[in-house]
Amino acid sequence: MKSQEIRSKFLEFFKEKDHKIVASAPMVVKDDPTLMFTNAGMNQFKEFFLGNTEPKSSRVTDSQKCLRVSGKHNDLEEVGKDTYHHTMFEMLGNWSFGDYFKKEAIEWGWEFLVDVCKIDKDSLYVTVFEGSRDADKLEQDTEALNLWKNIVPESQILFGNKKDNFWEMGDQGPCGPCSEIHVDIRSAAEKAKVSGASLVNQDHPQVVEIWNLVFMQYNRKANGQLESLPAKHVDTGMGFERLCMVMQNVQSNYDTDVFTPIIREIEAITNSTYAKDEKIDIAIRVIADHIRAVSFSIADGQLPSNTGAGYVIRRILRRAIRYGFTFLDTKEPFMYRLVKVLCDSMGAAFPELKSQRQLIENVIKEEEHSFLKTLDQGLVLLDTIISNANSKEIDGRKAFELYDTYGFPIDLTALILNERGLSLDEKGFDVAMQEQKKRSRSASEISKEDWTVLLNDSEQEFVGYDTLEANVKLVKYRKVTSKKDGEQYQLVFNLTPFYAEGGGQVGDKGYLEQSNGNVVYVLDTKRENNEIIHFTKDLPANRTEVYKAVVDEKQRRRTEANHTATHLLHQALREVLGTHVEQKGSAVHSKYLRFDFSHFSKVSSDELREVENYVNSRIEGNLALEEGRNIPMQQAIDQGAMALFGEKYGDAVRTIRFGQSIELCGGTHVKSTGDIWHFKIKSEGAVASGIRRIEAITSDAVKDFYSENNQKLSQVKDILNNAKDPVKAVTALQEENAKLKKEIEGLLKDKAKNLKGDLLNEIKTINGIDFLAKKVDLDASGIKDLSFEMGSNKENLFLLLAAENDGKALLSCYISKELVASKELSAVIVVRELGKYIQGGGGGQPFFATAGGKNPGGIAEAVEKAQGYLV
Ligand code: SER
Repeated sequence: MKSQEIRSKFLEFFKEKDHKIVASAPMVVKDDPTLMFTNAGMNQFKEFFLGNTEPKSSRVTDSQKCLRVSGKHNDLEEVGKDTYHHTMFEMLGNWSFGDYFKKEAIEWGWEFLVDVCKIDKDSLYVTVFEGSRDADKLEQDTEALNLWKNIVPESQILFGNKKDNFWEMGDQGPCGPCSEIHVDIRSAAEKAKVSGASLVNQDHPQVVEIWNLVFMQYNRKANGQLESLPAKHVDTGMGFERLCMVMQNVQSNYDTDVFTPIIREIEAITNSTYAKDEKIDIAIRVIADHIRAVSFSIADGQLPSNTGAGYVIRRILRRAIRYGFTFLDTKEPFMYRLVKVLCDSMGAAFPELKSQRQLIENVIKEEEHSFLKTLDQGLVLLDTIISNANSKEIDGRKAFELYDTYGFPIDLTALILNERGLSLDEKGFDVAMQEQKKRSRSASEISKEDWTVLLNDSEQEFVGYDTLEANVKLVKYRKVTSKKDGEQYQLVFNLTPFYAEGGGQVGDKGYLEQSNGNVVYVLDTKRENNEIIHFTKDLPANRTEVYKAVVDEKQRRRTEANHTATHLLHQALREVLGTHVEQKGSAVHSKYLRFDFSHFSKVSSDELREVENYVNSRIEGNLALEEGRNIPMQQAIDQGAMALFGEKYGDAVRTIRFGQSIELCGGTHVKSTGDIWHFKIKSEGAVASGIRRIEAITSDAVKDFYSENNQKLSQVKDILNNAKDPVKAVTALQEENAKLKKEIEGLLKDKAKNLKGDLLNEIKTINGIDFLAKKVDLDASGIKDLSFEMGSNKENLFLLLAAENDGKALLSCYISKELVASKELSAVIVVRELGKYIQGGGGGQPFFATAGGKNPGGIAEAVEKAQGYLV
C-alpha cells in the first residue's frame, strides 16, 4: 500500500466511527511562549482538554505535521544516526474531547492495526502504566490493563514506568497515563532466538513503538502539581512513517516510499549510493530528513534566521549541509534541488508545499550559498591556526573563536584535525563555550518575583476595540528586573482598554489615574499565556481601588492608521503584482509600517507608484470599517478572508473588512479609511531570497515627510545660487564632475606607471628573493593593482606595501606563488603579524593579503620588520 493510501485509510477508518477529519495545524507555533513548534498532534487541541474552549465536534481525526527539535521532545542529534528518529514526522491521531475513553480507544486502535492494516497480531506488544511512587503518587492503570486482557494474550502486555507510560506535553499542560503499541518486524528466525517482549523500549530498530494512546485526565500546573481535568479525553498519536514501514514490509522508515524518492534524488545529485557505507548512509538520511523539516517550516512562514524558531530551522538546514559537505563532497548548493521531489510526493496531502515551492527553493539555495561560503572561509582560517600551532593539540579557544565568530561547526574542526593527525583541546573549547553562555545569560536574564494576587478573576476582558478609557481593578502584579529595562512592574487588570502587542501591532502606552489624582505611566503592553500584562515603572499607591486606565490616544490613532494601511497595502500588492503575494511578516508602529511579502523580483518604481495610488484611492474612498467578532473560522474563509498563518481548527476569529480587503486580524483599526489621510512608500528592498519588504508611512508622518523634503529642496536651491531649475543645475554639475573624474583617473594612472618604474629599481635581492618593503601614496585598490603588475614582472617577489589613507593604516603583502610553495611563506601570516604594529588585522590568501589598522604611526616599524621573513 502506498503511503498516501495508508494515510487515507486511517482517516476514513475514524470517519466511519463518527470522527470529523480536520486539517493539520501549522507546524510552526505562533503566540505560545511555551512552544516553538508543534511537537504532537494534540497541541492544537490543548484548550479543549483544559476545558477553556468548547470543541465543535467531540471526535476528531487528522494527520499532523510535527517537529521535535527543541524543548522536552528533542530528537535532533539522533536523526540520521539511527533509522527511526525524525525531526519532522506525521502523527496520525484520533481524539475524544470528553466523549469516549479507554475502551473505544483501545478496541479501535487494535481493530485498525489488525483488521484494516492486517498486521500480524502476534507481532504486537502493548504497554500499560505501572503507577508511580514519587510525589505524584499515581495508581497503576488497571482499567487499561483489563481492557487489553480482553484482546491480547497477557504475554504481549508489558508494564511501563512514568517515562514511557505517562505522557506530558511539556513542563506544564494536559497529561495522563498511556498505553503504547509496539511492533516487532524481525524475521521469524530472530524472533525464535530472542523474544520480542524483551526488546520493547530498548531502542531496537525493528521493535518499535508505533502508536501511543494517551488517556488525558490531568493538568500539570506551573508549580508542578497535578490537578484533575474537568473531563476525560483521548489523545492518540501514531507515527505515520513507522506505520508505512510495517505495512510496506521494509526494515526502516527510510526504505518506505515517504523517503525513497528523496533518497534516489540525493544519490543522483551527489553521485553517491545509499546502503553501502554507514557514514554516507547517515549523511543521506540526515539530508532526506532535514529537507522535509526545513521545507515544511518555510511553507508555514518560518524562514531561517538568527533568533528563536528561525534559528532552529537554520541549524537544521546547516546540519544537513555540513553532512553533505563532509561525507558527500557537496561543495555547491544542492538541497534546494530536492524540493521538487518532496512536492511531488507530499504536495497532494499538504498543498502549502506546492503553492510555496519557488519560495522554499530560493530560501534554501541562498542559505546554502552563504553557509558554504562560511565553511570555505573557516577552512582557510583553520589552516592558519594549524600552521601557527606549536603543538599537536589545537587550542580550544581558537577553535571556539572559529565556531562563535565565523559559525564554523566544531565537529568539522575536530574531524579535519583528526584527519591531519592533530587533536582538539576539547576542555579549552568547553570552557570558552561556558564563559560565552554565562555572558549572554547574564545579559538577557530577567528575574521575576512571584505574583501578588489581589482578585480571583481569571477572565480578563479586552475592551480596547471600543474605548480608550475604562475603569479597571488590579487582579495581580509582580516586580521584574532585567539588565535591559531595570526594575519594572507587571500589572494585570480585570479588564483593559490597552492593546497587547500582537499580529505585528505594537502594544499600547498610556497611564492609570488613581483617586488621589496621581498617575502611573503604562510603558508597554504585552500578552503572556492569554494574560494582558501592563508594564510600569511604579506601582499605584493604593492597590485595591478602581483606576481610570487611559490609552495614549495620539499614538493609538497613528498606529491604527498604519494597521489599516497595511491591509490595504496587502490587497494592493496582490492586485498589482499577483496573488502569489503572501504576507510574511509585518510591524505596525505609530510612526511607520513595515510589510514583508513573497515576490520574486524587485518591485519596479512604476509598480510601486501603482500600489501607492491603489492604497490612496481606497483612502480617498473613505471606506468604513466592517468588523466581525467571534466568527467561526470556516465562515470567515467562505466570506473570502485571507487565512493567514497560525489559526487553528475550531478558533473563532475576528474579520476586518474595508471594501474588498478582508483579513483575519486581532488588531485595532481606523473607523474609516479617510482617517489615514495619505499613504507614502518610503522604501522597497529584499529581506531574503523571494521575500521583499516595503516600509511606508501614513497620516502626520506623511505631512512631516513632505515638509522636510520641501525644506531640503529650498536648501538645495540656495546652494545652487537660487537656481530656478534645480534639476538642470544638478545635472550640469554631475556632467562636470564626471569629466573631472576622468581627467584625475588619467593623471593617477600616469603617476602609478612612474611609481612602478621607481619601485622596480628599488628592489633588492636578498637570499635569492626580490624584496621591497615601502610606504607609498596610493589607495587600497591602487596598491593591489600595482602589486600584481610588479608581480608579473618578477618571479621571486616579496613585496610589502603600506599606506596611510584618511588617518587609517594599510598593509599589503604580495608573495610570488613560487615563493609561497618553495619557502613556505604566507602573505596571510605576514599581514597578521605585522598588523599588530598598526593595531589591526586582516586576511586574504597565501600569495596576497591585506590588513587595515587604526595606527598609522606603526607603519614605519611594520615596513622595517618585513625583511625578517626572508631569513
Ligand atoms: N500526545 C501523544 C504523543 O505525542 C499521543 O498523541 O505521543
